[in-house]
Amino acid sequence: MKERIYRAILTLAFTLSLLSLRAGMASAESLKFTGSPHFLPAPLMVVGVYTPEGQANFAPFHRGGVLASGKDGGPMRIGFGIKGDAEKSWTYQCLKKMKACTVNLPSVKYLAEAELLGRYSGRPLSGDAPLLSENGGFQDKLAVTKLTAVKGSAVNAPMIEEFPISLECELEEDMPIAEGSKSRLMILVVRKVWADEAYLDAGGKINPKTADPDSSIVFFSHSHAANGGFYGYGEMLGKSGPISDAYRQKK
Ligand SMILES: Cc1cc2nc3c(=O)[nH]c(=O)nc-3n(C[C@H](O)[C@H](O)[C@H](O)COP(=O)(O)O)c2cc1C
Repeated sequence: MKERIYRAILTLAFTLSLLSLRAGMASAESLKFTGSPHFLPAPLMVVGVYTPEGQANFAPFHRGGVLASGKDGGPMRIGFGIKGDAEKSWTYQCLKKMKACTVNLPSVKYLAEAELLGRYSGRPLSGDAPLLSENGGFQDKLAVTKLTAVKGSAVNAPMIEEFPISLECELEEDMPIAEGSKSRLMILVVRKVWADEAYLDAGGKINPKTADPDSSIVFFSHSHAANGGFYGYGEMLGKSGPISDAYRQKK
């Protein structure tokens, strides 16, 4: 009898502990989002390359950003990720061969053009239906967007004249995103930075927008709509340093 009671208590305790574990898991699941960090906005980096024949191609990438500021004892480094099978990306094919590219940041004024550059590939036409005008087998995105390509002065890659900020870069590393993955991570060393004068503040630093409402550089985030959305640069909330100085003094 005693043994039966003891067993019943053990079974009850075990069931209760399982239930509480499940309850704990359920609340953790409902509190924490464990998906992709794609909701985070990132600057829309329009990468410019020359084909080996010297034609300019541009495509936007948002999986990227600054890796080293240039004040960390080495040059400034930035990086971007090429999704899917990178071999199908004309940007990848050209960057791999030419070892140089530019990263151009569009302002809101050129948002539609910047997006259009990412809707089609510049790679030579194969069986795909040609959408843009053919130019020696090359889909000339500039013919459609009417943007102007200008050769960089530090590296052999084209910049977009109409975009306010351009970085001339050399390819440093080209690596798979994971072992066996066809997606690639490109690491670039920045050799020269260009910014329209209107974007420079009194101290010679770059401001991401001017007084003109269309001047903000563009950010991209996958939040909200299935295909993501574009954002402008918001108001500055405070200066780095003084923001937490005031908080510390209050404590
Ligand atoms: C807003 C936007 C963001 C994009 N971000 C990326 C990205 O981060 N990585 C990527 O591989 N492709 C990205 N793409 C897709 C490429 O831009 C697209 O595949 C383009 O057609 C490639 O052109 P290319 O073959 O001439 O290089 C993006 C497209 C758009 C419109």
